[in-house]
Formats: sequence, C-alpha cells, structure tokens
Amino acid sequence: MCGIVGYTGKDSALTPVIEGLRRLEYRGYDSAGIAIPAEIGKPLFIEKRSGKLKNLEDALGKTPKSNSGIGHTRWATHGGPTDTNAHPHLDNEGKLALIHNGIIENYEQLRYELEKKGHKFKSETDTESVVHLLSDARKENNGDLAAAMRQVCKQLKGSFTLLAIHADDPTHIVGARRNSPLVVGIGDGENFLASDVAAFISHTKKALELGQDQVVDITPTSIEVTDLSGQKVTGKEFEISWDATAAERGGFSHFMLKEIYEQPKAIADTLIGRLSGLDLKIKFKKFNKIVIIACGTAYNAGLVGKYAIEKWGNIPVDVELASEYRYREPSLDKKTLVIPISQSGETMDTLMALRYAKSKNATILSVCNTNGSTIARESDAVLYTHAGPEIAVASTKAFATQLIAMYLIGLEVSRKLGTLTKNEIKQISEELNQLPAKVEQILETVEPLRQTTRKFKSAESVLFLGRHVGYPTALEGALKLKELAYMHAEGFAGGELKHGPIALIDQGTPVVAIMPTSGSLLAEKMASNIQEVKARGAIVIVISESDFAGADHFIRIPKVNQLMQPVLSVVPLQVIAYEMAVARGNDVDQPRNLAKSVTVE
Ligand code: AGP
Repeated sequence: MCGIVGYTGKDSALTPVIEGLRRLEYRGYDSAGIAIPAEIGKPLFIEKRSGKLKNLEDALGKTPKSNSGIGHTRWATHGGPTDTNAHPHLDNEGKLALIHNGIIENYEQLRYELEKKGHKFKSETDTESVVHLLSDARKENNGDLAAAMRQVCKQLKGSFTLLAIHADDPTHIVGARRNSPLVVGIGDGENFLASDVAAFISHTKKALELGQDQVVDITPTSIEVTDLSGQKVTGKEFEISWDATAAERGGFSHFMLKEIYEQPKAIADTLIGRLSGLDLKIKFKKFNKIVIIACGTAYNAGLVGKYAIEKWGNIPVDVELASEYRYREPSLDKKTLVIPISQSGETMDTLMALRYAKSKNATILSVCNTNGSTIARESDAVLYTHAGPEIAVASTKAFATQLIAMYLIGLEVSRKLGTLTKNEIKQISEELNQLPAKVEQILETVEPLRQTTRKFKSAESVLFLGRHVGYPTALEGALKLKELAYMHAEGFAGGELKHGPIALIDQGTPVVAIMPTSGSLLAEKMASNIQEVKARGAIVIVISESDFAGADHFIRIPKVNQLMQPVLSVVPLQVIAYEMAVARGNDVDQPRNLAKSVTVE
C-alpha cells in the first residue's frame, strides 16, 4: 500500500529514487511522484503523474542535480488516482514536501483547522493536512524538521509512514512510522529510507529496523532515531540475506512466472534445518486451542494448516479471517496459541487481530516472510518462511512456503504433545523432503496446460472444486483467477455443490476439479461430484495423481500424502491464472485495484 523511498548521499538522487520506486511499485501503482531540492531555499522540484511509474518517467524532463530526494508510488485511499492527488504534497511555499503510506483518520478535523489558519489545499487526500501541519510545526521548532515531525506525529490518528524533505536543509530526510513499514538502508556516505529493503538492495545490504512511533533523521553520514518525546533510540541493525538479482525478473516475462518457478527452492529453503524440530521457545503443552488469523492467500494456507495441525497434533484449530476477528470479540485467553500468517508481515487486518489476541494474553507465533516486519516484531515467536522477495502482487511461492510452515508447526505440536510416534514423524519428514522435487516435476510438464487455459479465456465464470485440503486449494485457485484474470471464479467444497452452487453450471462452464488421493473414499465422492457437473454441461479439467476417465482435460500431479497435496495441486492453478491473465491482456504483476501489501484496514 504505497511505496516510499528517500535518498541522501554522494550521487545524484534521481537514479536511486527512481530505481527504488521501480522495486516498490508492487506496493501500489495508482500514481508516482518525486521531490528533489533544486537550490537551497528555493521551491523544490516536483514531478508527479497518475498511473504507473512509467508515466512519471516519461514526464521527467530536465531535473535539477541534487544529492537528495524522495519518491512515492501510490495505492489510492483518500482521493482518486489523479495527478493532483499524487504524492509528494507540498506546503504553501513549495519548500516542504511530504509523502505518506497509510491513513490519517483525523485529517478532516486537521484540514478544517488549517484552512481556518489560511493554509490552501489542492488535493482531496488525507496526506495534505499533514504537510501543512508539519510546515507550521517546523517554524515553531526553528527549522528543526525532526522535532517538527515528532510534534506532528503526536497529533495524528491512524497509521502512517511519512517522509519529508525541506529545501532549506536538503541533506536531511526525516521519516516517521506508526503501524506502517519503514526501514533505513545504511550505506557508505549515503543513506536510504524505504518501505521495503528491496528499494535499496543494489546499494547496501545493511539495514536498520525502526520501531513503532519512532522518528528518523538521515543525512549522508548520520542516522538519528528518536521516540516521540525526543529520546534517542538504538535501532536494530540487520543484514539482508538475499541479493539484488532476487528482486529482478531474471529472463522471465513476469515476476509471477519467475516466482512460480522458484517454488521448489523456496520450499526447500523453508524446510532446511527444521525437520528435526523448531527452535521456538513456546510451551505447546499449555494451549487448549490454536487460532490461525490471516487474509487472502495466507488465510487459504491457514485453512490447510488446520487439517494438518488437528490431524497430527490432535488439538482444535480455528482459522479466522483477520479482518473479521477482533470485531466479534472472540473468546480466547492465555491457553490460546494464535498464529498470524503474513507474507509481508505488514497486513493491517492481521496486525490488528494479533494485537487483539495479545490484549487477551494469548501467545503469538507468527509465520512471516519479511524479516523485521511489524507482525514479526510484535509476536512472541516467529517462524520465518524463506520464500525470498515476492514481487508479483499475486502470491505464489509465499503460499507454498506458508503451507510448509503449517506442516512444520503441525509436526512440532505433535512432537511436543506426543501425538505421533517417532516413525510417523520420520515418515512425514521424508514426504516433506520430497516436495521440492515433486513440484519441479509438475513445472516440467505444465506447457500443455497453458494451451488448454487459453481455450477458456472468454468463459463467463470458472468454478473450482475440491474436498478435504482440496477445498482450500480450490479457494486459492479461484482467488488467483479473480485477481489476475478479472473473471468470476469461485471455489467450492465438492459436497456443497448440490446445496446451491450447481445452479451456476451451464453448457461449457469450465470446472477445475482437484481429485483427492486415489483410492480414498473422498476420491469416490469427488468422482461423483465431477459426474454431476458434467451431466449439466460443464467442461471439466481434472487435477489428479491417477488417470481420470471422465476428464475433458487432465493434469497429472505426483502421488503425495493427502495433507501435502495442496503444495502440488496449487501449481497448475497458479499456471491457469497466469496464462488466463496473459491471454486476456491483463497486467500480470500489477493487477488492477490491488496492492501487494495491504496496510490499511
Ligand atoms: C494473494 O494473491 C493476495 N495478494 C492477497 O490475498 C494476500 O495474500 C493477502 O493480502 C495477505 O497478505 P500478507 O500475506 O502479506 O499478509
């Protein structure tokens, strides 16, 4: 939800700022803009354009040479995606520029008071109130922008990452954060501020985490972090474990395709060193239930987790949509283990549900892909997935690794509660270890599926059917198709079909059916469900580990433990969504209306 980048150093700022924006564009692409100091004391140079970063780049004519600057890529909340609403926003003198990620909840009241004082507003955004407020506060603090930022943050309600630069003091960039991400990139004679380390990864691998309600003031050679009372704070430094090439497309036509193909490695990396036990410092014996909270794809991974953790650990598991959870005041206490799952570690709905659970004394074990993210930092323990950077908005390899995290937690619970024998644990571990090779096998044979998919590009709606863990997999397949192909798609539990959804089936409706492990009772039931839709005119694409006579199109996946089947069966579903988006001419990596990291509720 909005990408933010700031640079101050020895080089011309334009290059690292635009490069940073390119790497952060996955966070929002409604507009992009930059602010660069032209001459000390003179109005800042500003360029901003609605639409993708490319529009901004095309509009950039001659830019002033400057060693500092800030840039923003927007996912619109308040005010449509226009040039005027694009960030940066300026004070009335045009000397102070501000960019923002998040929502300022009390912006209307602030705007009313500022307009009464004579401030002129140009946009419909919540952000513009903050730049005017900051401008006054800077004057009150004798030009000290960091002190002004601290003063302003105390007046703001909501969530924000803010970055500001002033023409009178152009080497300084001041940032602040509350509930939205901001990291410092520590360079040599240059420093960076950004929403995500990807923005500066080609310049430095040294980064600094910022805590809640902290303000940071960077120059090319200094980094000063304070809390809102002005007390100095020592931030936590960390080394970024991946390199710039991980955030590049590397010969693939889209990040999503690259990320689909990275799944075997991501799974292997997430498993490595963990099959003999997890170092979590959590007393599993004290819990009488587990609650998984997550959104979107991560929620679907949680649904699969429920099957595995309940089966292996013999403990009740609820899976909750994070955005709904706290509002119904659920019953939980210190005997509850809450597992938030989040690729970004910044999803606001998940973070708020986590905080609610904490306030009820639950223990929090998060599953995150992003080191040092807010959800990770606010948890009692973290199981990091090792998917590497996931740039495409549609989640693929992060989902695969979240599934692996679920199995690892299921195994750990069973180990700690003694619910599985050593032999059973050994057997499951071996099966997990075989997953990377099995996913690889599917990837080697998906080409015909790409051809098949194109045949359905004009379908009105596509249905996905599954039973057992195939049901959350069907939900994931439908979610992928909706977000990428902009088609109506729904996932159903096979048995539920006859209770209403079968009315959707018409001549030629494509139905993707995920067959449970062959020979099982579930497989027989699913076979009947397939016949039911075929009898009503559906064209059925069957994903199965063994031949299926009634299939119009057939996709074979390797044999696997039923609980682990989603790791394999989701791969063709990802390919279908990808191919359909390409066939329909959609933007695969940046689908309309979406953002990778959803940092507003
Ligand atoms: C999936 O393709 C989506 N991009 C979305 O559902 C995503 O999984 C969800 O917003 C949760 O994000 P998180 O894992 O970063 O918390």
